[in-house]
Amino acid sequence: MKKIGVRLGRNSYEIYVGSGLLSQLGRRLKESGFSDKLVIITDPTVKSLYGEALKESLISEGFEAVILEVPEGEEQKSLETAGRLYSGLSDFHVERTTPILALGGGVIGDLTGFVAATYMRGVPLVQVPTTLLAQVDSSIGGKVAVNHGQLKNKIGAFYQPRLVISDIATLKSLPATEISDGLAEIIKYAVIRDKELFTYLERNIDQIKSLDERLLEEIVFRSARIKAAVVEKDERDFGLRNILNYGHTVGHAIESASDFRIEHGGAVAIGMLAAGKISNKLEIFDKGELIRLEDVILRASLPVKIPSLDMERIIQAIKHDKKILRGKIRFVLPKSIGNVFVTDEVSTSLVEQVLVDFNEET
Ligand SMILES: NC(=O)c1ccc[n+]([C@@H]2O[C@H](COP(=O)([O-])OP(=O)(O)OC[C@H]3O[C@@H](n4cnc5c(N)ncnc54)[C@H](O)[C@@H]3O)[C@@H](O)[C@H]2O)c1
Repeated sequence: MKKIGVRLGRNSYEIYVGSGLLSQLGRRLKESGFSDKLVIITDPTVKSLYGEALKESLISEGFEAVILEVPEGEEQKSLETAGRLYSGLSDFHVERTTPILALGGGVIGDLTGFVAATYMRGVPLVQVPTTLLAQVDSSIGGKVAVNHGQLKNKIGAFYQPRLVISDIATLKSLPATEISDGLAEIIKYAVIRDKELFTYLERNIDQIKSLDERLLEEIVFRSARIKAAVVEKDERDFGLRNILNYGHTVGHAIESASDFRIEHGGAVAIGMLAAGKISNKLEIFDKGELIRLEDVILRASLPVKIPSLDMERIIQAIKHDKKILRGKIRFVLPKSIGNVFVTDEVSTSLVEQVLVDFNEET
């Protein structure tokens, strides 16, 4: 088991990463000063895989525990679902000291976090992420949100959890696409901050994909440590946290221009490569490193080409999503593996020129 401290003054907390941690959750909660009732929010898949067993083990340790179930899917990140959860919390007589556990992927984490931040002006939140993406990204840093119409993640708060428990053993039941989504974020961390992590991925990617627990623990730990360090320096996303958007400028645009037919991880992978190619064309990022990046993305079962890219829609989506300064788009670009910079000096024509390379028809 590994432990990371996130130092944010009064909002500080610990992240635990290891295999079999769900069985120790009761003890950890008691160490954090919780001993009475608690609520687990989860979805049907995670409830049957881990939720029921977790609830029983917590009850056997003296907690009064209930599960509130939310259907699966991004559309559940809504004010309507939050409203139903508020009623559930009220029925269970939740008090301001009652912890709410988010057991699941990023959807459950973001939604539960939003509910915890707003119910009675804030009740303690415990993140128990069960997807690779949630363990390395969404459970850390306190961004909690729901969607509203076309506004994705725009109704939310910065609300740090009191504890994060990442049980690596839960990753064994994940579908392959979920593993790839998480790997895309892990490659992102390596490129922005940790060239040793990149080399580690190059060396071990095949065993990682076959879900070797020791290797998974190592890459989740290293990634979570990077996210924690960035959040510590810029909790409210006014500066450094920007670098976490590496690959996401183009990635988000590809997702929305494909009406979300292209998976998040695949879109981010193309986005990271696109940023690499832009940087290479600007004569900053070395060709050899670009080839290594493409190779690791391919070996992680992520795409390096996509069918029928609608260039016009992608460019429109980028313009809609991001701040444009005199026709230039803000980008996070690699200088070298392990080191990125933020620039407002990328022209839309350069982005178009680079994106053409990713079209499967070319
Ligand atoms: N708050 C943040 O900083 C942040 C960062 C990145 C992403 N996000 C958000 O995260 C969400 C995506 O999260 P996600 O990729 O985890 O997807 P998800 O939460 O939709 O989970 C994907 C699927 O995996 C299933 N699942 C979860 N754990 C499982 C397990 N151990 N075994 C088998 N199945 C399991 C779930 O039931 C679900 O059907 C998006 O809403 C995104 O906006 C938030």
